[in-house]
Amino acid sequence: MLLARPAWITVDLGAIANNVRRLRGIVADDVEILAVVKAHGYGHGAVPVAKTALAAGARLLGVTCLDEALELREAGITADILMLGYSPGWQAPSIVANDIIVTAYDPELLQPLARAASLLDRPARVHLKVDTGMSRFGVAPAAIADLAGRALSLPRVRIEGVFTHLATADSADPAFMREQLGRFREALSALARVGCRPRWRHAANSAAAIRLPESHFDLIRPGAAMYGLNPSSETPCPPGFRPALSFQCLVAQVKSLPAGVPVGYGSTWQTQRPTCLAVLQAGYADGVRRSPNGWKEVLIGGRRAPLVGAICMDLCMADVTDLPRVQAGDTAVLLGRQGTEEITVQEIAASTGTIGYEVLCNLASRVPRVFVPDSGTSDRRLEPIAALLDDSPHARDEHVRGLSNRHWIAETEEEDDEPTSVMFPLATSRIATSQPRRRSLDAASPAAQEPY
Ligand SMILES: Cc1ncc(COP(=O)(O)O)c(C=O)c1O
Repeated sequence: MLLARPAWITVDLGAIANNVRRLRGIVADDVEILAVVKAHGYGHGAVPVAKTALAAGARLLGVTCLDEALELREAGITADILMLGYSPGWQAPSIVANDIIVTAYDPELLQPLARAASLLDRPARVHLKVDTGMSRFGVAPAAIADLAGRALSLPRVRIEGVFTHLATADSADPAFMREQLGRFREALSALARVGCRPRWRHAANSAAAIRLPESHFDLIRPGAAMYGLNPSSETPCPPGFRPALSFQCLVAQVKSLPAGVPVGYGSTWQTQRPTCLAVLQAGYADGVRRSPNGWKEVLIGGRRAPLVGAICMDLCMADVTDLPRVQAGDTAVLLGRQGTEEITVQEIAASTGTIGYEVLCNLASRVPRVFVPDSGTSDRRLEPIAALLDDSPHARDEHVRGLSNRHWIAETEEEDDEPTSVMFPLATSRIATSQPRRRSLDAASPAAQEPY
């Protein structure tokens, strides 16, 4: 496969669709799904994930702020979009004009929303947020009726939902989650007493959706499970869910070094024996964490190789002495499967001292995303791209077609003779360049093998 950057992230939209269908399978027929696609769809790419999730059965979308909502609207998505984060009052005209749903917990926001709604002659749509124990956004359950009363007094402000967020849904002990749900039910009763019965009552993130049906109410709000990410080790995704994302780069150079040679910035690591070193074209500017606890291993040729020396901005180095012959141009997997080996998000989270969510969200936007289409909702001719991505040296040529104004998907060419390389930018405008078919560098050549 030919790329304008020799590092890329593959997003399997078939896995997203599969996971959404499985989530549909664990909720009752009258419970809907709000697919959480904030933070560039947890690093996957919000627009393709949103389109895939909607096609697979999600009904609403969840983002953090207005820019994320507008990205979806600009891509032609007309589904309901709830902004889960803070919306300053000055955004009200744009929010109302673009038919975006706002999270409301502060009466201060209601006036500008009402003014924008009356000016534009359209409803201002809100979901009220109750803080039942997370101590983040939201009004106390005791104050929800007052907030609802203020909203109801404003013409054109429409309360469509009420929700809360659970702090410990993914931990082994469900006690606090149950306590929060109890407070949420009290808030719903308080609303009912003032005649407010919103269409959407919701509380469940992925972990709650997976483990506690009583948390489902009218809508679940999965993020992690939709991406095939385990919310935690205590609450993994049920069998059948699949990770959607993998992260690959190319081997840039292979060199033989004698024992006792320092490697990388600060000379923090030295060869202990005659060493075959692979220099890989991905670094911390791509999301490969350097410190204090860095990424530990990669896969090359389906085998694990330790990363050695300090991870650089654009490069990292792997000790491939124990691997069968590695050559420049080979694919190294930083995250995902190669052959029978797999580096999981959980593994990276453990070695870098964080959670899987952060690993995914920290994958840099400069790394192009390559979207493998969902065979259920896309042109079947695109399926072979999965194989292309797996094994770049033997890839056929391909060209791209626009999925939205910001994303591209790869498409297999009928003829082999017009090579085209492509980039799949996450947050920049489209780029496509042409270059000759990749020439496999010979690792045995003096340039590849000489120490320095
Ligand atoms: C309000 C809200 N709902 C739902 C989610 C999705 O959570 P998860 O990814 O654990 O399913 C998030 C994610 O942070 C959130 O902030």
